[in-house]
Amino acid sequence: MENAVVTPWVVKGNIDYDALIKEFGVSKIDHKTLERIQKHTGELHPFLKRGIFFAHRDLNWILDEYEKGNKFFLYTGRSPSGNTHIGHIVPWIFTKWLQDKFDVELYFQFPDDEKFLFKPEMTLEDTKKYTHENMLDVIALGFNPKKTHFIVNTVHANLMYPQALRVAKKITFSTAKASFGFTNETNIGAIFYTSMQAVPAFLPSVLKKKNIPCLIPHAIDQDPHFRVSRDVIPKLGYYKPASIQCRFLPGLAGMSSDGKMSASDARTAIYTTDDAKTIKNKINKYAFSGGQPTVEEHRKLGGNVDIDVPYQWLTFFEEDDNRLKQIHDDYKSGKMLTGEIKAILIEKLTKFLEGHQKRREKARDEINDFLLDEKKLAK
Ligand code: TRP
Repeated sequence: MENAVVTPWVVKGNIDYDALIKEFGVSKIDHKTLERIQKHTGELHPFLKRGIFFAHRDLNWILDEYEKGNKFFLYTGRSPSGNTHIGHIVPWIFTKWLQDKFDVELYFQFPDDEKFLFKPEMTLEDTKKYTHENMLDVIALGFNPKKTHFIVNTVHANLMYPQALRVAKKITFSTAKASFGFTNETNIGAIFYTSMQAVPAFLPSVLKKKNIPCLIPHAIDQDPHFRVSRDVIPKLGYYKPASIQCRFLPGLAGMSSDGKMSASDARTAIYTTDDAKTIKNKINKYAFSGGQPTVEEHRKLGGNVDIDVPYQWLTFFEEDDNRLKQIHDDYKSGKMLTGEIKAILIEKLTKFLEGHQKRREKARDEINDFLLDEKKLAK
């Protein structure tokens, strides 16, 4: 992968996901595993059918345990550092589907320490504000409040810190350097941070005083954290967490200029709070097109769906397989023009985000129901 970089803090370039599978040592989700999932879920989520969730660690073990009646819990998270964009919600949409289909608990971490430590300009007040804002987006996706527990690192410090210490004691500086590329200039909070991200993978086992399998849905860039966690957590007496990884939603400007949507570049991202007009303007103005320069050439040669951002985004957001296939065929053959595929995407996203924004407003009164409550959990 020339020029491509994928770390928990930097993602850029044209990402070759097959090369990443090898480099990270994860396993590709194969047909047999998909069939096993489908046996329990009845249908496969489009993200599975389309290879958007494409890799895993120990997913078959999670299914073995589930089939023996040993249910797993889900763990995922969001580092609050800015407004939520539609790339962030991809793993959360899938996590919600897993929660519904397997009827399991979810622990959702908001590490309000992470970006404070990693971004020079970020204050704790900023991350606190974004924690609140980002929570609204998570709730708006419809997670079950009875089975979903938000962990905020500084708020739940009493629960988190003793467990993070147990993890930290088993990670040397040399492992942290090799896993994350730290140098002598890295602040010591950042070096410690991975211990905090490890904790929710076994905290439910601590609180419920029994060993419970953990499945972590996440975007592939987070894998280095869990590679380290998987080494350490068994040493503390808990199951090695399993994981399932997704690709990135490309930014508006296209796959080769940025591997994923950047939260800090308003031109490449669509935020969950963007209104209809903003969505339309951004897509029409900035979406990288695989179409031909003139209508005549487009009719003759057709569009390139592999690099066309509107088409790529539809593979994430158009759930109807038949409709997606029709769009694919029409665009590729030249029957459908760039303006037309953009219009389809605009309509799709506008509808989705209008509903999301209504639920997001309602969520303001619901945050307390989602915050992890130690007393309720111990029962
Ligand atoms: N580090 C993640 C981020 O930058 C946030 C996070 C914390 C996370 N725990 C997680 C992501 C577990 C996926 C799974 O957004």
